[in-house]
Amino acid sequence: MVLDGLRRLEYRGYDSAGVAVLAGQGRLAVERKAGRLSNLEDRLTEVGRDAFAGTAGIGHTRWATHGAPVDRNSHPHRDAANRVAVVHNGIIENFAALRAELEAAGVEFASDTDTETVAHLVARAYDGVDGAEGTAGDLPASMRAVCRRLDGAFTLVVTHVDQPDVIVAARRSSPLVVGIGEGETFVASDVAAFIEHTRDAVELGQDQVVTINRDGYHVTDFRGEDAVSRPFHVDWDLSAAEKGGYEYFMLKEIEEQPEALADTLRGHFNGGRIVLDEQRMSDQDLRDVDKVFVVACGTAYHSGLIAKYAIEHWTRLPVEVELASEFRYRDPVLDRDTLVVAVSQSGETADTLEAVRHAREQKARVLAVCNTNGAQIPRESDAVLYTHAGPEVGVASTKTFLAQIAANYLVGLALAQARGTKYPDEVAREFDELAAMPEQVRRVLGTVEKVRSLGRSLADAKAVLFLGRHVGYPVALEGALKLKELAYMHAEGFAAGELKHGPIALIEEGLPVVVVMPSPKGRAVLHAKLLSNISEIQARGARTIVIAEEGDETVRPFADELVEVPAVPTLLQPLVSTVPLQVLAAEIARARGYDVDKPRNLAKSVTVE
Ligand code: G6P
Repeated sequence: MVLDGLRRLEYRGYDSAGVAVLAGQGRLAVERKAGRLSNLEDRLTEVGRDAFAGTAGIGHTRWATHGAPVDRNSHPHRDAANRVAVVHNGIIENFAALRAELEAAGVEFASDTDTETVAHLVARAYDGVDGAEGTAGDLPASMRAVCRRLDGAFTLVVTHVDQPDVIVAARRSSPLVVGIGEGETFVASDVAAFIEHTRDAVELGQDQVVTINRDGYHVTDFRGEDAVSRPFHVDWDLSAAEKGGYEYFMLKEIEEQPEALADTLRGHFNGGRIVLDEQRMSDQDLRDVDKVFVVACGTAYHSGLIAKYAIEHWTRLPVEVELASEFRYRDPVLDRDTLVVAVSQSGETADTLEAVRHAREQKARVLAVCNTNGAQIPRESDAVLYTHAGPEVGVASTKTFLAQIAANYLVGLALAQARGTKYPDEVAREFDELAAMPEQVRRVLGTVEKVRSLGRSLADAKAVLFLGRHVGYPVALEGALKLKELAYMHAEGFAAGELKHGPIALIEEGLPVVVVMPSPKGRAVLHAKLLSNISEIQARGARTIVIAEEGDETVRPFADELVEVPAVPTLLQPLVSTVPLQVLAAEIARARGYDVDKPRNLAKSVTVE
């Protein structure tokens, strides 16, 4: 059961995996292995799985922060007497001081991790040797006492051989949910871990500790006071968390994009108006906004770059888009009339969370765009707009990117509506055009076979460049990011106009260059300029792969390979032109023999700064 749960959470990290089971007679059975979960499974088969029979167990998959991804740094970590086992996500920032203190007390460490300190601290509190009051023989009290001493972000899960029917878990700024089954109870970072057993869950709040046994759970704060937690029902099931016949989750998720878009838009246009129903901001709040920031990381950041074009055009408000990791440390100009849109699929990215905290400290209003119900970023924001893309397991985002673009556009339209920068009929028309996009994306998906074979033909390329202008520029960046993530290939996205200012030096005979063309009708001037840019690189021997609107005949002579996408309004073009780039990256990666769901060195949820 623990291994099944880990399999569904492997997207969170796959540097190593481990399990600990309370196997009876005061025995803690532990096995840990560097690499993928399958390595651990092989190891368990080797040593005999019978040794791991029990009714309480914990497990972990790791994305290494402190200490290399080797067996001895893998979780669970234990105290010296092998009585306590701990798994941990996040970083314990004061671990060096804690470790020094423990070493001074004669404790020997078996790993390089920050986590191991917790195992020793809990064991000592439980044994009553560290002077903390009321912790001896009491595992929840020991956990609380230790948590009070920790700085940083953490989810911790602890077992003790003396308490074979109990598991204690705690969280600060890192996710933890409880699953309520019949005669069984679960804790995990994500409901996907126990979705096949129960869809009834409880979300823990900040700085809470939960004690579970087979019959239920009890939540307190770090001081031991009873605390309130939020029960919820998961609205998707096991099939959504499984591959459903696809070789990889990512391929399934690319195909699910029309539904992700439709589900994200559903219900947001009602009675002739844009309604952001989960939003806790009034029209007056939206009218008061005088500047918008979009903060995010990775693919979510690219969705923000696209949103800038639409929101500025629709609202005449200045929009700045910034990487969350840079935003906070730059002293951005924020006040109560600034709207900060924090975009995050997971809702738990540490960089974005810190940006949200900084913005709120500066009195800015924060609206989260998030795909995970009740995650930390929406919890700490003033308002939230959920993308309803369903669970995304492939580490490289695909369907949530399209859903984020749609959600960001809803925010733009809501601002335009409240501020009167668009007439109601114009808002309605923009929404209708958005609502027609799932069908257009479906059409693109029907024609990607050609892109697949193109991808296979590019498997041996050394590098690929991506060019675009206007909204095609962030699309180019996203195309390059996908290729880096999945195929480990050097890939760069450029604004096509910048080419002549430097990147053109990279062009050499046969270098594949992907160009995202604007519409010849909607953006005639830009279209002409891009054709000139293509000529410049063609003249220098590049192999051009051009994504262009159906029926755009003028582009043919410039395209060594032509990929056609449906004609759609300019601002919506990223929703169709990104799709072939996702397929291209996936196909190149597969042709090179890589696992597209779990690219090396990456993790889907990056809960450390
Ligand atoms: C990680 C993932 C990226 C993702 C980024 C932001 O780096 O590998 O695919 O775009 O985090 O994630 P978020 O959950 O905040 O959207």
